[in-house]
Amino acid sequence: MSHIKIVIRFIKYFFRARTKYDIHSPIVYDFIMNVLEDRRTFYIFGRAEGKRLSLKQNHTKISVTDLGAGSLVNNNKTKSISTIAKSALSPGYQCKMLFRIINHFKPKTMIEIGASLGIASIYQKSGSLNAKMIALEGCPNISEVARNVYQNSNLDIKVKTGNFDTTFKEALLELKSIDYVFFDGNHQYQPTLDYFNTALEHAHSNSVFVFDDIHWSSDMERAWEEIRMHPKVTVALDLFHFGLILFHDEIEHPIRKSVIPWRYKPWRNGFWG
Ligand SMILES: C[S@@+](CC[C@H](N)C(=O)[O-])C[C@H]1O[C@@H](n2cnc3c(N)ncnc32)[C@H](O)[C@@H]1O
Repeated sequence: MSHIKIVIRFIKYFFRARTKYDIHSPIVYDFIMNVLEDRRTFYIFGRAEGKRLSLKQNHTKISVTDLGAGSLVNNNKTKSISTIAKSALSPGYQCKMLFRIINHFKPKTMIEIGASLGIASIYQKSGSLNAKMIALEGCPNISEVARNVYQNSNLDIKVKTGNFDTTFKEALLELKSIDYVFFDGNHQYQPTLDYFNTALEHAHSNSVFVFDDIHWSSDMERAWEEIRMHPKVTVALDLFHFGLILFHDEIEHPIRKSVIPWRYKPWRNGFWG
């Protein structure tokens, strides 16, 4: 994905986006104040970034099975853990937003679709420590690293290894009702919609779905457009990197907005990754 296209998409988003001053829904206003405008630092941020740094310094080579977008060209490559840590993980400022989203909604059952090395999972699980969390990862060697990361962090996160086509359904059946899903793997149009429809069967009025990379490609923008317009969705917030979906049944008319934190400056952190 060319950087120019991403910058153009950001500019479009920026001019569409509302701030806390333009939003009148109490649910969305609370979300902006408690999540997007929250500048507090939590102890877990430093710990998770310490783990990220040690992965970036780990030059052990592992064989990588890629079941996602681009699998036809990338299958069974050898990569160092350091390379994966530098290229595949959500950056710190996005992980902090995930932590704040979870800390705000306090889900009790959580699934991360696409764990990679597990750094974002540390942030997410730490936002709701009593939640049951299942992390899905297709590559056996990567999921082994994630398992060790969770163990070393004393976090009770179950890892399911295999294709999301089967592991996601298994995880949903295991948790029965799902409070939170982070969709962060296989960023293609049809799989993204399939995962969304599968998750919907286990969702309820307080479920929270977060989609990563909704402007990463035109395929992902198309998938996001369908998801945000789905009749069961009552709140759809475009946060540029993430799309957030809620199903609150007391909301009379769907709220479908692009929302920007007041002082949001993604160019400080790089637009992507
Ligand atoms: C972008 S990474 C996840 C990053 C992580 N959530 C984070 O925020 O740091 C996506 C992961 O999904 C895995 N993946 C992609 N498609 C998959 C599929 N169809 N089944 C299982 N795993 C898949 C890849 O192996 C990769 O590790």
